[in-house]
Amino acid sequence: MPPNMILIDGKAVASFFKSQIANEVNKMKKQGMKVPHLAAVLVGNNGSSETYVANKVKACELVGFESSLFRFDDDVSENELLEKIKEINANDAIDGYIVQLPLPKHISVDKIINSIKPSKDVDGFHPENTGRMVKNLPCYIAATPFGILKLLEYYKIETKGKHCVVVGRSNIVGSPISILMARDGNPGNCTVTLCHSKTEKLIDHTAKADILIVALGKPEFITADMIKDGAVVIDVGLTRMPNANKKSGFELKGDVKFDEVAPKCSFITPVPGGVGPMTIVALLENTLKAARKEVYF
Ligand code: GUN
Repeated sequence: MPPNMILIDGKAVASFFKSQIANEVNKMKKQGMKVPHLAAVLVGNNGSSETYVANKVKACELVGFESSLFRFDDDVSENELLEKIKEINANDAIDGYIVQLPLPKHISVDKIINSIKPSKDVDGFHPENTGRMVKNLPCYIAATPFGILKLLEYYKIETKGKHCVVVGRSNIVGSPISILMARDGNPGNCTVTLCHSKTEKLIDHTAKADILIVALGKPEFITADMIKDGAVVIDVGLTRMPNANKKSGFELKGDVKFDEVAPKCSFITPVPGGVGPMTIVALLENTLKAARKEVYF
């Protein structure tokens, strides 16, 4: 590794922010205020979803939040789920909640997300929050893009006037981060190129990126020849690859071929331990904002 390459330590940064949030919760308690309360709705037994939700509950405990978990079997009806959402929307004890995705095929994700009260939508998935984000108004920003912004801010990475290339246009990551990086703000004020599966000559775009954000879910897709010298590389990919040499039988791979790309970078996120740990921090921060009525007053 060249001495000037900085490995972004998402785990350490996440711990830093979590202890800040815990301090805030202590202050709220001392002032006799109710502690923030995050709820999660989990349908079925998807292994990854179980892990994500368990980690969210654990993080709540760590910072002193209250948490609730509402579980449903795979065959729950859409109406039953909508009824639960109505109940949570009306429950003043719960400040914010998420409906863990994916949902079973017989349930309309749009219908469910549209029924979440925007002021409790700490995932930032409701169209009202997306619209507010586009207009640069107070909103809940979705966990992954918010986590990326917090990392850029923490490491004081200059974004103003830079060329940011985003690879992947998902609703959860690529699309929102492309808007956020172009907004008038800090981080922000980038000239943004959004690349996707139909982009021709991808390398012509990625090789011009001062900041490259990759979220396409193809392990080790981005190679050294696609990178500009001194680029900042943010890898959002997280794919389980079979590996018989590992105790677990698998290893986690990002979308970037780390070993060959890292030597060309000024900053790079590892996988795991880069963006991932920041997503929970983002969710906790949104919940804190919900409890303090900082977004919807
Ligand atoms: N599934 C994968 N990531 C997420 C997320 O950030 N929020 C929710 N609700 N479901 C997810």
